[in-house]
Amino acid sequence: MESVYGLIGFPVGHSLSPLMHNDAFARLGIPARYHLFSVKREQVGEAIAGVRALGIAGVNVTIPHKMAVIPFLDDIDDHARRIGAVNTIVNENGRLVGYNTDGPGYVRALEEEMEVALDGKRILLIGAGGGARGIYFSLLSTAAERIDIANRTIEKAEQLVRSGEGEGRSAFFSLAEAERRVAEYDIMINTTSVGMHPKEDEQPLSLEGLRPGTIVSDIIYNPLETKWLKEAKARGARVQNGVGMLVYQGALAFEKWTGQWPDVKRMKQLVTAQLRR
Ligand code: ATR
Repeated sequence: MESVYGLIGFPVGHSLSPLMHNDAFARLGIPARYHLFSVKREQVGEAIAGVRALGIAGVNVTIPHKMAVIPFLDDIDDHARRIGAVNTIVNENGRLVGYNTDGPGYVRALEEEMEVALDGKRILLIGAGGGARGIYFSLLSTAAERIDIANRTIEKAEQLVRSGEGEGRSAFFSLAEAERRVAEYDIMINTTSVGMHPKEDEQPLSLEGLRPGTIVSDIIYNPLETKWLKEAKARGARVQNGVGMLVYQGALAFEKWTGQWPDVKRMKQLVTAQLRR
């Protein structure tokens, strides 16, 4: 019998996940289908009960339900518990277990796509919202030397550092202060929505003083190249867009569901081609 997988969120119409997962199932000869499930806020509990009752093999969870699903699960892994958000649920013979592959997916995409070892690196994270949280906690478990956080609202950066117990390795700055320190970093990561369609003219941080060869990474994938990445490139940086994180969080979920690692290069090509349309 064909296994059923899917995405729970609201809205879900523009998701690229069915494209990646259904192609990977087909390529690997796994009899399974990935569907979109548009679920309203007040029906999250019923949706999870439905996953259980219908024997759905696994789901991804997206905005705005990543926190709301937690009370309905049987177990949640340590990383997902620490960050307080789940993006992947695995149905293990009726036990629903929550994971979060966003941060680990980001870090793996960074290491593999940019061919960089994070040991001893000085990293600046821009933003302190939901997107930053998983990435920050995942970076804390690498051997990076510094993981500083800059945010428009500096208190939120401070809170994030404290909640990750990153005090020894992380300073927090205003955006203006971070701009003065651009040359100190090996890797800079934008996790804010600044520069995302339709406000493509905005940038999270000026890059004056950037050292050539610095890695500049943006989790935005619409547009594929933000204004910030364009400027970084013009200043001699090595740049990475948000397709890597999107694909690797999906690949890590796929691996949890099936035990198999999909062809991430192919997933990236499919997603990029779709985004170019
Ligand atoms: P997400 O869950 O997608 O990260 P979020 O929790 O609303 O969304 O966080 C958005 C991030 O983008 C925050 O760091 C936010 O800064 P504040 O904490 O000061 O709100 C940042 N952000 C959004 N719009 C911004 C803007 N115009 N300039 C600077 N930072 C911005």
